[in-house]
Amino acid sequence: MVRKLIIGNWKLNPLTLTEAKALVAKIERSPKAEAVICPPDIFLSALDYPALGAQDCFWENKGPFTGQTSPLALKNLGVKYCIVGHSEIRASGETDEQIKKKIEALLSVKITPVLCVGFGTTVKQDDLEVTDIVKKQIKSVASKEQLGKMVVAYEPVWAISAGNPYVTKKIATPDHAEKIAIFINAKMGAKKVLYGGSTNAVNAESFLSEPHIDGLLVGGASLLPADFNAMINI
Ligand code: PGA
Repeated sequence: MVRKLIIGNWKLNPLTLTEAKALVAKIERSPKAEAVICPPDIFLSALDYPALGAQDCFWENKGPFTGQTSPLALKNLGVKYCIVGHSEIRASGETDEQIKKKIEALLSVKITPVLCVGFGTTVKQDDLEVTDIVKKQIKSVASKEQLGKMVVAYEPVWAISAGNPYVTKKIATPDHAEKIAIFINAKMGAKKVLYGGSTNAVNAESFLSEPHIDGLLVGGASLLPADFNAMINI
């Protein structure tokens, strides 16, 4: 059986290396799933876990680009995956053109891009309307050939961080996520399709049991070792 891919996106947490090391020490090395941890870049070189990922990168490997992260430097640290096009970065103005360049740069250093789509969707849209948005977001940044080497994460923006007490949001149903995953996999040709948006130890299995959902992109729950361990042991 193919192992599911479970990627933990720590976002801007934690605040010290001591805490980051303590957190990673509590995450199991499960043979059941391929688990990946994406800590803040500043902790990457100091953490020991079988698979590490980055949360974003720049599209040039070196040069006068203040504040950026080089895909080649990530590769040299042993990073295997890099998230691109996350809705939290799109919201601050990232364009399709920039995402496209990041994907090219990552593939050229053999880091697997994890392209997030679903920004701009709303809870009221039906499956077809969502498919249309997702199709545009994918087509404008990657070719079919590139998609065959990539992971695409469907993350309906309205379903992200439902655990956040400041927002009241609904969570996508596994059935809706599976329909979009079928489209991304069968029609667009992505190698793997993940679902992301308020997944946790309680709802993970319902998404993972859908045949076209190859794994999860986990935010909040990836900071809770007991929950994340339960998710990578399903
Ligand atoms: P969440 O985040 O699991 O906290 O909703 C998912 C993500 O933003 O990738």
